[in-house]
Amino acid sequence: MTDISSILHGGYHHPLSRTWQASCHLTKSMLVYPLFITDSPDEETPISSLPNQCRRGLNKLVPFLTPLINKGLKSVILFGVPLAPDAKDPTGKSADDESGPVIAAIKLLKEAFPELFIICDVCLCEYTSHGHCGILREDGTLENAASVKRISEVAVNYAKAGAHCVAPSDMMDGRIKGIKTGLIEVGLAHKVLLMSYAAKFAGCWYGPFREAAGSAPAFGDRRCYQLPPNARGLARRAITRDLAEGADIIMVKPAANFLDIISDAKQVSPDTPIAAYHVSGEYAMLHAAAKAGVFDLRRAAEEVMTSILRAGATIVISYFTPEFLDWLDE
Ligand code: PBG
Ligand code: ZN
Repeated sequence: MTDISSILHGGYHHPLSRTWQASCHLTKSMLVYPLFITDSPDEETPISSLPNQCRRGLNKLVPFLTPLINKGLKSVILFGVPLAPDAKDPTGKSADDESGPVIAAIKLLKEAFPELFIICDVCLCEYTSHGHCGILREDGTLENAASVKRISEVAVNYAKAGAHCVAPSDMMDGRIKGIKTGLIEVGLAHKVLLMSYAAKFAGCWYGPFREAAGSAPAFGDRRCYQLPPNARGLARRAITRDLAEGADIIMVKPAANFLDIISDAKQVSPDTPIAAYHVSGEYAMLHAAAKAGVFDLRRAAEEVMTSILRAGATIVISYFTPEFLDWLDE
């Protein structure tokens, strides 16, 4: 006689009963789409290492986004890509240039799509001549206090321009507190969401993004500020710290290779929404594998998304967002 407790198949024999096994289902409002915005207004250039993604100038944004918004796109995250020859300097002065691509895009998108939730990635690496995420000392190491001051200034200027959310990805110590304090001082803390890239790991997964944004470091790497990939405990401490400094949402990045960290973030703070960034290398890898015949791209993308939600994220930054908007309608 079979033990009755050994029978599980009956609970998921039917496609519908299988969907009932999930604790969380993907909806369109969970998706955030990354946009790379250049300072040459008519540009629309495919990024070779990031399939189906382009760098776009201001004049290309509304035509590109209109059909996506009609399909249910609710949120974008903006990355500035300054191409002008004099745009980069040691302190990233053009990051919050009033006429630069990010501030101009915030204004344009708010006007064109009043319902769209606009997140701005806040970092200096796209704007510094050395390509690091903060301001450097003479010896090439980070000057943390000066970096936090500059990054907070940039975040506050994005908020003043109308961003709904600022998301610092620089990994300086104390930047969440610096930004929150800055938002309070200018009277914007009550309406601007602060999303911390709290558990952001160093590694090989950001390669295509750095090509897209032109933000690879000119020397060295980011291992002294982004977290070591083996650091589960340190990630929990970073999450706890950023919550104490005023983060409204915690992000884990990369996503698919750090599912344990997503799950830890949810456990450390069950009452905080957790975001996950399925990053450029993770995305490009699925495309390459599908092209090589390893699997079907859609099935792989859906399974990875399921894993990210199962781990505990309810906000997912993904280059597959346009596809998911279609797939969710089927
Ligand atoms: C800027 C930033 C990076 C990403 C998001 N913000 C690159 C980096 O830290 O080198 C990576 C996103 C991706 O790979 O898709 N600091
Ligand atoms: Zn950076």
